[in-house]
Amino acid sequence: MSNGLLAGKRGIIFGALDEQSIAWQVAEKCVAQGAKITLTNAPVALRLGTIQQLAEKIGAEVIPADATSLEDLENLLTKSQEILGGKMDFMLHSIGMSVNMRKKRTYDDLNYDWMQKTFDISAISFHKLMQTAMKMDAMNEWGSILALTYIAAQRVFPDYSEMAESKSLLESFARSFGYHWAKKANVRVNTVSQSPTMTTAGTGVKGFQDFFDYSNKMSPLGNATSEQCADYCVAMFSDLTKMVTMQNLYHDGGFSNMGMAPEVLGL
Ligand SMILES: NC(=O)c1ccc[n+]([C@@H]2O[C@H](COP(=O)([O-])OP(=O)(O)OC[C@H]3O[C@@H](n4cnc5c(N)ncnc54)[C@H](O)[C@@H]3O)[C@@H](O)[C@H]2O)c1
Repeated sequence: MSNGLLAGKRGIIFGALDEQSIAWQVAEKCVAQGAKITLTNAPVALRLGTIQQLAEKIGAEVIPADATSLEDLENLLTKSQEILGGKMDFMLHSIGMSVNMRKKRTYDDLNYDWMQKTFDISAISFHKLMQTAMKMDAMNEWGSILALTYIAAQRVFPDYSEMAESKSLLESFARSFGYHWAKKANVRVNTVSQSPTMTTAGTGVKGFQDFFDYSNKMSPLGNATSEQCADYCVAMFSDLTKMVTMQNLYHDGGFSNMGMAPEVLGL
């Protein structure tokens, strides 16, 4: 259902790899709500994933960008403004990758060069995006910038490894840069802390299915799906949430406030 919540708005969506990606769902919903968007992902993801299918479906252009490269980000922001005909009203950072996790290194045996790479891709890229956009004056007044995160930033989930620290850093960047963006152009910056979701990044976490089932039982509303996450992102990009900024917003069916759930214990 469309109510034109994003009519006339322009945005950039990072991180749609395939149909399972949360960003894929967000891109579809933004366009359905009247927005014009560009899609972006790392060059390697363009080769391995199916983002072109999404681009054709929603009539959006794909601009390759490694989110850790300032040059790529500048090019992305320049081209997006040319293609969409003006400054951005919203941007979604939906990027996460742990090199140590991918190479099956345990938390007590991490390679620190890989850890730096993980932080760069999963968190520092968010600062790089916001700094580049600010220097280029590429955001409209009252715009909205979002990144996706997970509750392992606050609580211990042993198999989430160095991604926990990546998410803490990401959320901290949202708070700190949120101040500067608010003062500069009334732009808001928030993170959405999403339930476990069956995607390429999600299922890369060891024991993900058990973890997904546990979370589903712990959450009184159940796990939030990627489509529901996309609805929430649309709301956060719309003019209905103009005064929400520097927040970590839980979109998790109630998981974050639970202590014990009888369902988990089989009571
Ligand atoms: N799936 C979950 O359980 C879950 C839960 C909470 C939060 N999140 C977060 O949601 C976001 C999206 O992940 P997803 O679950 O949709 O998985 P996904 O694998 O579909 O998306 C991750 C994306 O990051 C992109 N990426 C990796 N390196 C990049 C780089 N250098 N430059 C640009 N893009 C790069 C990948 O190509 C991919 O498109 C991530 O931040 C993830 O941590 C996921």
